[in-house]
Amino acid sequence: MIKLPRPKANKTAIAPSILSANQLCLGQQITAVQKAGADWLHIDIMDGHFVPNLSFGPATVKAIDGNTNLAQDVHLMVQNPAQFIEPFTKAGASALTLHIEAKGNLPKLLKQIKKSGLAAGISIKPDTKPAALKPYLKLVDIILVMSVYPGFGGQGFLKNSPKQIAAVRQLINQSKRKIWLQVDGGINAQSAQTALKAGANALVAGHAIFGHKNIKKALNDIKRAANLI
Ligand code: DX5
Ligand code: ZN
Repeated sequence: MIKLPRPKANKTAIAPSILSANQLCLGQQITAVQKAGADWLHIDIMDGHFVPNLSFGPATVKAIDGNTNLAQDVHLMVQNPAQFIEPFTKAGASALTLHIEAKGNLPKLLKQIKKSGLAAGISIKPDTKPAALKPYLKLVDIILVMSVYPGFGGQGFLKNSPKQIAAVRQLINQSKRKIWLQVDGGINAQSAQTALKAGANALVAGHAIFGHKNIKKALNDIKRAANLI
């Protein structure tokens, strides 16, 4: 398991989402983003209930672990996260992010994730009010703001997202804790700038990176927009 770093001032993490990678050559696609300078890999887990789609499972995380030096940032879009924490921990996940809209005792699950040495995250869907995050600020390392309705890659960045991001940035600053503010959905060079201006410091991008014929150029376009190169 690769440890997820803590946020640093002026550091933006870029996490390509393998949901949009060519699944027939996933290993090569991961090597390509690693060489191109990605920071983490974003792994979307879907159960067909919380979102109307299916994707990967612990076996994929296990296969990736040890074959890359990138942390695996696992986004659990599942109704019942409790049943998946142990399998993904054993598989080598670096971070596990749960949805605030999911079922179960979420504070207990977040504590379990941290106790196992992983980074813990909580995510809000576009219609969830940022104030709902207040009780979680002391329990998490990542807050993930969804800038599309979860379930599919390649959608457009929702207009209300900057407002959501700015509200979460305020909550994080007030908490005085080091928490990543990650934005996921419809990120390209243009929306990356909008998200960063609103207060994000971690960006997920699927289609904009893996949907491009030149992965290095696509990643560099986002990095340039984020003033990272
Ligand atoms: C959407 C997923 C995202 C998705 C992002 O449900 O959580 O991580 O892969 O893909 P793009 O960047 O294509 O919107
Ligand atoms: Zn995601």
